[in-house]
Formats: sequence, structure tokens, C-alpha cells
Amino acid sequence: MSTHGEIKRVTTHTLQWMKQQGERISMITAYDFSMARIFDDAGIDVILVGDSASNVMAGHETTLPITLDHMIYHGQSVVRAAKRCLIVVDLPFGSYQGNSKEALNSSIRIMKEAGAHAIKLEGGLEVIESIRRIISAGVPVMGHLGLTPQSIYQFGTYAVRAKEEEEAERLIENAHELQEAGCFALVLEKIPASLGKRVAEALKIPVIGIGAGMHVDGQVLVMHDMLGITKDFSPRFLRRYLNLYDDIKEATGNFINDVKSRDFPNEKEQY
Ligand code: KIV
Repeated sequence: MSTHGEIKRVTTHTLQWMKQQGERISMITAYDFSMARIFDDAGIDVILVGDSASNVMAGHETTLPITLDHMIYHGQSVVRAAKRCLIVVDLPFGSYQGNSKEALNSSIRIMKEAGAHAIKLEGGLEVIESIRRIISAGVPVMGHLGLTPQSIYQFGTYAVRAKEEEEAERLIENAHELQEAGCFALVLEKIPASLGKRVAEALKIPVIGIGAGMHVDGQVLVMHDMLGITKDFSPRFLRRYLNLYDDIKEATGNFINDVKSRDFPNEKEQY
């Protein structure tokens, strides 16, 4: 059984139901109106307006520079396009780590100004007070554990996380804390598949993986990676469904040639 075509709007409750039914959850990042419209039309369950916008849209090396105003701008564009899927917007670095009041204010801005349905933030116990405060104001929260790119300078590397049992145990403990605090779902990034399985089986809430193996309740990819727009990023977990970098480059080359050779526009393509 599938939710496709039957659901007017995917909600956090739909995701919970999907986990109970054993239906996998599909999630993709988007940052603009046009792509969000296509993904929504295709039937994606969740669009994440990820702070990966800092990398793929703005060209920064890390997710740290993107601001709350930028995230709201991207969120607004996606919200205008997507009519069926659940829309989750990332809280950017520096907008929630300070204290729980700041975290709540940032979340309220995202819900009010972007029109998002939920927020996502990175971390476990260290942000639990903020998560509780955000949820108590009625804002659904998606957690994010494993590789958390906002802490890249602390990790020092984008390598697989929690390979050792001690870190794995800590991750499981944090996952339970997030569930208990009221998170409606959890993203696990770049961890061993066996750990992804343990967490997904232990939690009642849906676990959505990116490089967390096949046993979690759903999968998310960054759109530029899934569509082959990024070229130099090829982690093992990535499956490319198109090779748009080369396709767009070739199409652009054809356009340039047609302009230079005066083939474009022809008689029919002018007024
Ligand atoms: O910002 C993002 O794109 C993300 C995904 C990698 C889950 O957080």
C-alpha cells in the first residue's frame, strides 16, 4: 500500500503512519520554487529546505555561513510551490545553539515568515532544552544525529560517524532523548548501516537516513547530488539518477554554437 495519490497533504502524522505500515519515506532537499514544484508533483513525501543551500546554492565550503534570513527566503520559495508534501526547514548554525529562547524565536520566524510545517536542527542532549521549548510552542521538530555538518570544525572530517561502540551507544542514547522530547522524526547521517538498523528498530518515530543504510524508515538526498549537478562529490551512499552537469553543459554549448552561427533564432522563432 502506498500513500501516493491518496493524501491531500503529508503531515507528521502521515510519516508516523508510514513507519507503522512499513512504507518507506522519500525526502529530498529543495531550495527554490521551480524544483520544489517538480518534486512535489512527482509525489515526494518530504521536502527539506536544508542548510546545504549554503554549499549547493551559495557556493560556501560549509553550512556555517548561511543565515536565518537566507533560510527563510529559500523556505518561502519552496512553500509557494509544494502543495502536497511536508516542508521542513533547517535552523541554520548560530540560530539556536545560544539558548532555548533564541531557538524558539528562530523557529517561530521560520514557521511564520516561510510558512514551513516543521523545523530541523542538529544535535542531541546539548540542544534538548531548546527542542522541548520549540515543541511546547507547537512547532514540530525533526532531529539530526550522526554526521552533523554544522559541527564540522569539531569533527575535523566528513568521515563515517559512530563506528566505535562507545559513540554508537551515545548516538542511541541521544536518539531516545530526542524521541522523548517529542521530535516527530530523526535524520541519521553517515553512520554504519547496522547502527541505522538498531536506531530505527528501537525508536517509534521515523528514522530517515542519508548514508545510514537500507534498514531505516526513509531516505533523503541532496537534490544536486541525486540529479548529478554536483560533480566532485561521490560518497558511497550516493545514487545519481541523472547526470545533469554534463547534460546542462552540453545543452549550453549547443546554445552558444547556435547563437554564434546565427542559427538561433530562425524565421519561426521571431515576431
Ligand atoms: O542540509 C541538508 O541538506 C541536510 C541533509 C543532508 C539531511 O541536512
